Amino acid sequence: MKDEGFRKLSDMFSLKGRTALVTGSARGIGRGIALALAEFGCRVAVHGSKPSGHLDEALALVREMSPESFSVSANLADRKAVAGLVDELRARDAMPDILVANASVQYRAKWNEITPVQADEQMQVNFHSTLQLVQGFAPRMLEAKWGRIVTVGSVQERRPHPDMAVYAASKGAQENLVRNLAKQFGPTGVTVNNLCPGVFLTDRNREALADPVYGKAVTDVIPLHRYAMPHDAAGAALLLCSDAGRYITGTTILVDGGLSLPK
Ligand SMILES: NC(=O)c1ccc[n+]([C@@H]2O[C@H](COP(=O)([O-])OP(=O)(O)OC[C@H]3O[C@@H](n4cnc5c(N)ncnc54)[C@H](OP(=O)(O)O)[C@@H]3O)[C@@H](O)[C@H]2O)c1
Repeated sequence: MKDEGFRKLSDMFSLKGRTALVTGSARGIGRGIALALAEFGCRVAVHGSKPSGHLDEALALVREMSPESFSVSANLADRKAVAGLVDELRARDAMPDILVANASVQYRAKWNEITPVQADEQMQVNFHSTLQLVQGFAPRMLEAKWGRIVTVGSVQERRPHPDMAVYAASKGAQENLVRNLAKQFGPTGVTVNNLCPGVFLTDRNREALADPVYGKAVTDVIPLHRYAMPHDAAGAALLLCSDAGRYITGTTILVDGGLSLPK
């Protein structure tokens, strides 16, 4: 194998000339990842389920660092909309070198109370849409012999919450897909990894964490004794999306403050 020689680490983190789609980057963890990729030179397709003030705000922040970035919206619960998203990026000549499948839906309900509609929606957005996006974008990555696929999972792959059985299962299915595809894509250099957040302060749990009793119960079981901020996943995502992480594939990186460790 040809030795490519020494490259400065700062060059290996560079994403100049790359394009990324970060799903669910209008807000929360996805926005933090989109900002990090933009900071390192990537053109980013910032995405939300629909046009919104959050999406406009995220794009404005991303564009401060990466002016060629743009926004797209598609409801990933709708297979036709997912196909439309792939078509839109192709039409813009912006097929991504980097896919970060971050958007998800989450319903809290006991295993015997969750409705078929809620179960289907979680599987569609959290698992099937990821597969559909990979099917849309990976062929070009494989041909180019460069690509990065990062799924955003959850600490619940290791430590499932009793009221989120289907959500946890959808993330587990996604992680299994990652290991399967990493092996198949490996010979081309395209990497596939899973990044698992622990407890992050984002819109989905802002209200719950604002309750001091619940908030303390949560932070008490986290070894770092605090929950994370949305940008706390950005460093790990940048590693997985850049050449600095080119020898990492098929793995899960937990960004969970130690929450998944055994008691
Ligand atoms: N927050 C946590 O503590 C935590 C813990 C473990 C794992 N995670 C995972 O981390 C990822 C990001 O979570 P977050 O807390 O940052 O989320 P969030 O703040 O609730 O934001 C979710 C993003 O996903 C988009 N989205 C939701 N449903 C969608 C749909 N049907 N179609 C398209 N886009 C959709 C939203 O779009 P709009 O802005 O248009 O609504 C939004 O931009 C998720 O995969 C989540 O499961 C989070």
